[in-house]
Amino acid sequence: MTLRSVIVGCGSYLPERVVTNAELARRVDTTDEWIVERTGIRQRHVAAEGEFTSHLAINAARKALAHAGIDATDIDAIILATTTPDQTFPATATRVQAALGLSGGFAFDVQAVCSGFIYALAVADNFIRAGQVRHVLVIGAETFSRILDWNDRSTCVLFGDGAGAVVVRAMPDTTQTAEGRPRGILSTHLHSDGRFTDLLRVDGGPSTTGSTGHVRMEGKEVFRHAVVNLASVLEEALMANGLNAAEVDWIVPHQANKRIIEGTARKLGLSSDRMVVTIERHANTSAASIPLALDEAVRDGRIRPGHLVVLEAMGGGLTWGAGVLRW
Ligand code: UT7
Repeated sequence: MTLRSVIVGCGSYLPERVVTNAELARRVDTTDEWIVERTGIRQRHVAAEGEFTSHLAINAARKALAHAGIDATDIDAIILATTTPDQTFPATATRVQAALGLSGGFAFDVQAVCSGFIYALAVADNFIRAGQVRHVLVIGAETFSRILDWNDRSTCVLFGDGAGAVVVRAMPDTTQTAEGRPRGILSTHLHSDGRFTDLLRVDGGPSTTGSTGHVRMEGKEVFRHAVVNLASVLEEALMANGLNAAEVDWIVPHQANKRIIEGTARKLGLSSDRMVVTIERHANTSAASIPLALDEAVRDGRIRPGHLVVLEAMGGGLTWGAGVLRW
C-alpha cells in the first residue's frame, strides 16, 4: 500500500518566565524601540534554572499525544530537532522516550538549527512513506538562552526558549479531506549550503574548544540569504505540487524576523494576514518556532481541516527548507 504522512495532533510548551525588551535594555545597550522596529520581538520566554530542553520537549509531546488521542505506547519513533540538547550525548530524544515510558521503537536528534523542524518532519515523512513506522512524534525544542552571549546585544535580544511537537501517522495515500482533496504532507524540500557555515554559528564545540560556545551571527548577511532562499524554496514547493500562492491558506514560517516574514509574503503576493506570526511573543525559538506557531493557529481555529498549509525555515549551515501539507 502506498502511504502518506498525516499530522493528527500537535502541542506546544513555553517556559513560564517572560523576559521583556525593557528588561534586556537594563542589561545591554539596546531599546525596546530598536528591537521592535528591527525584528518585531516584544518579549521571549526563558527556561528556569534546572529546566532543560528535554523538559520542554516532554511537555509539548504530552500535549501533542493528548491532541491526537493516542497513547505514548503507540509511538514507533521520536525525532527531535534541537541545537541545544541537554548534553552532547545521548540524544535528547532518548530522554523524551524514557519520560514517556517507552522502551520500544527508536529515538534520535536532528541538527539543522532553525530549519530543524522541517528537517525532522521530512525524515519522519520518509520513514512513514517507506512503511517502517506508523506513528512518529516530531519535536522541535530549544533552550537557546543557554548558548547566548548575554553581553552581545546583536544576538541576545533575538532568541527565546520553547518547544512544539506533532504526531504524524501513516495513512493510505488515498486519504482525503471532506472536499475530496489529498490530505496530509504533500511534499518536503530540504537544502543546505556549507559555504556559509560562518555566518551563523557558535564559537565552540566538543571537538574544537571542548566548550559549548556562544551564538555568533552576521545578521545582515543572514537576512539577505533568508529573503532569497525562502522565496526560492517556497516557489519550488508550490511548483512541485502544481499549486499557486493564491491557493495557500496559511504559511507557518520560522520566526526569525518580522521583516523577513513580511518580505516573504510580499514576494509571494500574499497578504501578511495569511502568515502565522508569533515572533512578538516568542522571539526566535529556532527549531521550536514552527511547531509552536502551528499549534497556536490550530488551537485558535485559524488552521482548519482542508486548509493548505506551507511551512518554511532557514537557519545556520546555512540550511533551509519547506513543507506543503493539507490539514
Ligand atoms: O533564525 C535563523 C535565521 N536568522 C535570521 O534570519 C536573522 C537575520 N538577521 C536579522 O534579523 C537582522 O539582521 C538583525 C535583527 C539581526 C539586525 O538588524 P539589522 O537591521 O540588519 O541591523 P544591523 O545588524 O545592520 O545593525 C544596525 C545597527 C548597528 O549599529 P551601527 O553599526 O549602524 O552604528 C548595530 O550595532 O544597529 C546596531 N544594533 C543594535 N542597536 C540597538 C545591533 N543590535 C542592536 C540592539 N540594539 N540590540
